[in-house]
Amino acid sequence: MANFLFSNVDTVELAKKYKTPLYVVSEDIILERFNEIKKDFIEKHENTMAVYASKAFLTKEMARIVKREGLGMDVVSGGELYTAIKVDFPMEKIVFHGNNKTLDEIEMAVKYNVGRIVVDNFYELELLDKMASKYKKKVNILFRITPGVNSHTHKYIRTGQVDSKFGVPLNENIIYEAILKAINSNYIELKGFHFHIGSQLQESETHVKSIKVLTSLMKEIKDELGFITKELNTGGGYGIHYNGNESRKPLSYFTDAMMEELEKECRKYNLERPRVVIEPGRWVVGEAGITLYTIGSIKNIPNVRTYVGIDGGMPDNPRPSLYDAQYEALIANKVDEEITDIVTIAGKCCESGDILIWDLKTPHIEAGDILAVLSTGAYNYSMASNYNRIPRPAVVMISKGNDRLIVKRETYDDILRNEI
Ligand code: LLP
Repeated sequence: MANFLFSNVDTVELAKKYKTPLYVVSEDIILERFNEIKKDFIEKHENTMAVYASKAFLTKEMARIVKREGLGMDVVSGGELYTAIKVDFPMEKIVFHGNNKTLDEIEMAVKYNVGRIVVDNFYELELLDKMASKYKKKVNILFRITPGVNSHTHKYIRTGQVDSKFGVPLNENIIYEAILKAINSNYIELKGFHFHIGSQLQESETHVKSIKVLTSLMKEIKDELGFITKELNTGGGYGIHYNGNESRKPLSYFTDAMMEELEKECRKYNLERPRVVIEPGRWVVGEAGITLYTIGSIKNIPNVRTYVGIDGGMPDNPRPSLYDAQYEALIANKVDEEITDIVTIAGKCCESGDILIWDLKTPHIEAGDILAVLSTGAYNYSMASNYNRIPRPAVVMISKGNDRLIVKRETYDDILRNEI
């Protein structure tokens, strides 16, 4: 009987050693992605920068790896920023996002001198201006622009369309007013613009369309306001393999297409090509993570379906119930056994929607088998909850065939910790 090796480590042994459910993240795979980013984007195109979108997966250890590899980091809350602060992450490489940053978060960003604040709206601009003048600090900002481009992805992870809660709408008057306000502030330095059109994108078309929109805006504001765009942050969104036809394309599939379009449009409009920033999250960590579960109850409803119960579910992976996300999985202790059955993997929550995988093809399953769900590195641990008061799993990092615990399993007392 052969066991499933993930990043050269026996997953059944990991399940024994750390218990389940267990998140397993491969540092080796993360480093492969970072190296591809360095080689095919940073070194290939000058005046560029990559920031890792930490919302996909963040722990102190992950922040240390990003820091060591020299990339920047995108944070979207005080909590993500605090994690970066705690590992002495270079603050000039932090990009701070959010469509409704609180006053406390704005204060934190100003106090700690984060490199870029991506301003989403006028209210934020005003708060930031006041805060910067209180601290007498110059803050570098970008405006997030909604480019009005529809992406072909689940509606909950689309962000670039006209009707979006994110960003300054693509409306001449509104954008001019925002730019003038920023230019007239003594403490705000407007460097340029940001867009992010959506996540888990399979094609580069929407990034290219957004570049067209942004360069046309850059030309217009140069002519009308004399404003020169020095930086263009193009967000993230590059898709990965989950199952079926969804694939992870090389980074250059997206970035080369964008750079080509940007250079072409800049030549056309006689603009200097701005510094280009990318913010991949899922593409870096998605396939670098798996989740291990132990199989418990197996319920066969004759002529209907077989439900296989696992010791986790929507608290550790809410994506199937939120987005109908589909995952591949295998029985880690039976990888060389013949596929004979079709089963449904059911989570342990009191919720009919807590189904991780419908119709998974498996060998014959028994209680005690280990299920490995693949591509869970992004938006699983970071979106985990304690629904039904289920403690969050531990996180184990794999590096060169060795495993190390980076987040301890939560205890029941952890869940009660703040209760009075
Ligand atoms: N930059 C900005 C401003 C973003 O809003 C996001 C993701 C990213 C970068 C990184 O996008 P990525 O490269 O990971 O696609 N919870 C959802 C995904 C939400 C993405 C939100 N923003 C999911 O599980 O599919």
